[in-house]
Amino acid sequence: MVLMPIDKKGMFKRLKELLGDRFLTGQAERYCYATDASIYRALPDAVVVPTSTEEVSKIVKLANEFKVPIIPRGGGTGLCGSAVAVHGGVIIDMQRMNKIKEVRPENLYCIVEPGTVYDDLNRALKPFGFCFPTAPGSGEACTIGGMVALNASGMRAIKYGATRDYVLALEVVLPSGEIMRCGTHTLKNSSGYQLERLFVGSEGTLGIITEITLKIVTLPKSVSVALATFDTMEKAGQTVSSIIAKPIMPSSIEIMDRTCIEVANTGANAGFPDVAALLIIECDGEIEGVRREMKEVEAVIRKSSALSFECSEDPKVFSRWNAGRQSILPALGRLKPELKIVSLADDMAIPIANIGRTVMAFEHIAKKNGIIVASYGHASDGNLHTKLLIDPTKPEDWKKAERTVKEIYDAVMGQDGTVSGEHGIGISKAPYMIVERRTAIETMKAIKRALDPNNIMNPGKMFDWEKKGIMAPLRYPAEVE
Ligand code: MLT
Ligand code: ZN
Repeated sequence: MVLMPIDKKGMFKRLKELLGDRFLTGQAERYCYATDASIYRALPDAVVVPTSTEEVSKIVKLANEFKVPIIPRGGGTGLCGSAVAVHGGVIIDMQRMNKIKEVRPENLYCIVEPGTVYDDLNRALKPFGFCFPTAPGSGEACTIGGMVALNASGMRAIKYGATRDYVLALEVVLPSGEIMRCGTHTLKNSSGYQLERLFVGSEGTLGIITEITLKIVTLPKSVSVALATFDTMEKAGQTVSSIIAKPIMPSSIEIMDRTCIEVANTGANAGFPDVAALLIIECDGEIEGVRREMKEVEAVIRKSSALSFECSEDPKVFSRWNAGRQSILPALGRLKPELKIVSLADDMAIPIANIGRTVMAFEHIAKKNGIIVASYGHASDGNLHTKLLIDPTKPEDWKKAERTVKEIYDAVMGQDGTVSGEHGIGISKAPYMIVERRTAIETMKAIKRALDPNNIMNPGKMFDWEKKGIMAPLRYPAEVE
């Protein structure tokens, strides 16, 4: 989509009047907001920090009047560049809108502002015996608004679903500045278009979410975990679908390859055995049911080609294994001093039964391209993470990464998969989403044009990606052609 000529000066004068010192234009401040957790960086022209829906509405009206791009941002934990100002413009930092407005256990919902941090919400729900269980890896910092915008989730999606399954209602500031409410405070609603769903996964391209009504569920009474080890990732992957098909409904099964096991052991003292692959299986619910389920899991695993099986109800063991799993992303960055993790092809999903074949394809692709590809992820819902390790100062390493990413996505598509299971599209997955969703792209564009005719909302992302490839604008010094 074509961006209109912009008048930043006129808009900035009015923003200063509206927000005072919550309108930031200093070089250092803009630099802090130039990147998120992705590989991209682009300097915004300004940053605003609204504290109310009315302020957001006024900001958006100004952006629409002056045709200036606006980019909503939550905790800045996104891995695919959704919050990077690729066309400049104004970053709207939503973190000050972080009130938990209502907790209504009797109605099974809570109402929050978008800047509410995931862990803070769960801390507030715990005394009521409830939770919002989607469990993103970045729960300490990611915001509920960001989670809705990206349809984020984590390791418990097999049993508890993703964010989209919890959004009952939204308040949204549309690109015109108008405030719209969609959805209801009821658990069921067949009342017209489910517009609240349209904003789930819209990545700030259709409007700004200013209030969220989320379904909540009861906290599980008990949790049990098991560790199973294997001599190949293929066998580990195949065992996952055998457990699910039994049928057993675990609350999560995480898979890790040798590289991930090694970094979790050195980085977080996880104490995992030195093997090629492992599964961490978690069951939750009433204690008797959990024990019965774990016995069934054990029976499936003993019948498979596992090297070992160990089960525990000890919270200390659970925390150690869990800390090992959660340490993978930061610990991978310390594997070798010259290598950095680049989040590319980082969260694909495939049907569960195809995990074994897909992880083997990743191993083959890594070997062929001479690149370290660490594989792990939420195997129980078919959501895999790969992290490429490269020297980001070397253009040839980026080239290698680009080739590897294409081959990984070809493998994922060949296994009936999707390019993103939980992190979203942003920049890094845009060219591949365009291929994956080719029959739906024109409809997506028509919706975008109808709601945002001036293309002010987070331009240059998803289907609006500008064919610059996935290696621009990098936050590393290497120039990649
Ligand atoms: C996770 O599973 O920890 C998060 O999705 C981040 C990641 O490792 O890619
Ligand atoms: Zn994840």
